This record gives sequence, structure tokens and C-alpha cells, in this order.
Amino acid sequence: MTALKPIIAIDGPAGSGKSTIAKLVAKKLGLSYIDTGAMYRALALKAKKANVDFRDEGNIAELAKTIDIDLRYDAKTGQLTVLLEGRDVSEEIRKPYITDEVSSIAKIKEVREHMVTLQRRLAQGKRSILEGRDITTVVFPDAYKKFYLDADPDERIRRRYLEMKEKNMPVEESNVKINIEKRDRIDSTREHAPLRRAKDAVYIDTTKLSIDEVVNRVIEEINKP
Ligand code: DC
Repeated sequence: MTALKPIIAIDGPAGSGKSTIAKLVAKKLGLSYIDTGAMYRALALKAKKANVDFRDEGNIAELAKTIDIDLRYDAKTGQLTVLLEGRDVSEEIRKPYITDEVSSIAKIKEVREHMVTLQRRLAQGKRSILEGRDITTVVFPDAYKKFYLDADPDERIRRRYLEMKEKNMPVEESNVKINIEKRDRIDSTREHAPLRRAKDAVYIDTTKLSIDEVVNRVIEEINKP
């Protein structure tokens, strides 16, 4: 393997496989894993707890400025622990009441600016893999290797549905469909840092690929000089 430069960046829509793939690649290559979506989710949870309306952009931005988030990835267990103000919120932030509304927070300009600063700080000096919606375009446009993962909407809905069932969350496939379609729309049409495919990102359609196939494809690309 050639000397690995610090940053690997992955973007793509919900359910395209970013988290699963990034975690496995992190484990195989010994990288630090940064799930940036978890950070927006943690802010949404903080706002819910503080009873701040998601449309109140000024107050949401204030909360973002002072948020204390830490991400701890244990490569042995494959578990990501998300700490908000020192408390483990890993499960809470995946619940539907957060998933349904997190996009409204993620579209606020000041929120994004704070999150980008935090994300760069978390990745600083480490060999890291980051995944989200604007990693290849805004957070680390000069990343060593950039990827855009995609999959057909029906497949992405199916994956999210199965994932929630596995976690014993009460869920209906029709609601997952509504949520994914709504988030796709907000995340890709928002004014600030919308999800888009960077020209120089390697595009991988994961619809018909196994997890191993995608992981191998990503590692192969990282290892290319
Ligand atoms: O990847 P996820 O589903 O956990 O992301 C949660 C939300 O956060 C998603 O609706 C879009 C937003 N997000 C973002 O705007 N930018 C990122 N880098 C990561 C996530």
C-alpha cells in the first residue's frame, strides 16, 4: 500500500451505504471514523431538549455555537458512540422524531459553518474517513480520495426499513419512504452546501453490490497511487 494521506471523504444520499462502508473501511485501514450526520442529529436532539423550534434559525445557530459533541468509534465492535455534552445519545439520535426533522436544522447556514469547523477539528492530524453530504464539496474538497455512493431510491428505503426493524424500532415502510424522499429533497435542494456529486469523486452505485464488494472497491481506489 502506498503511504496513506490523511483524509478520505464520502458523500451520498440517505441509505446509500455510507456509514456501513465508512466504518468497515476505517476498521480495515485503521482510520478514525467521523459520521457527520450524527453531529447534525445531536444538534437536533439538543434543540428538542431545549424546546427550541426548528424554524427559529437564530436560536438554533446559538445552540450550534456551544454544542459539545464527541464521536468515539470502536473498530473492534464496529460501534460508534455519540456523546452530547458527555452523555451517550447514540440510540436517541436515530429515533424517528429526530430523523424526521433533522434536515430542517442542517439547512441553516450558521449551523453548517459551525459543524464544518467542528468536523475539520475532529479530523485534524488524524488519518480519517468522513461521511456526509458536503464532505467532498465543502468540508474537505482536497481530500486524498473522494467517493459518491448512490443507490436506487427503492433500495435505499428498503435498507433503512430493515435497519430500523433490526433495532426493534416501531416502523412502517411507507413512513420510511416519506422520510427518505423528504430528506433527499431538502438535502439536495437547500441553498447552502446541498448534496451534490463532486466531479472528481469516484461514483459507486451500490444498488446491486454486496457490502464486501463496495468496501473492496473503495479500498482498491484508496490504494491506487
Ligand atoms: O447521514 P444522516 O442520515 O445521519 O444525516 C442526517 C441529516 O444531516 C441528513 O438529513 C442531512 C444532514 N447532513 C448534512 O446536511 N451534511 C452532512 N455532512 C451530514 C448530514
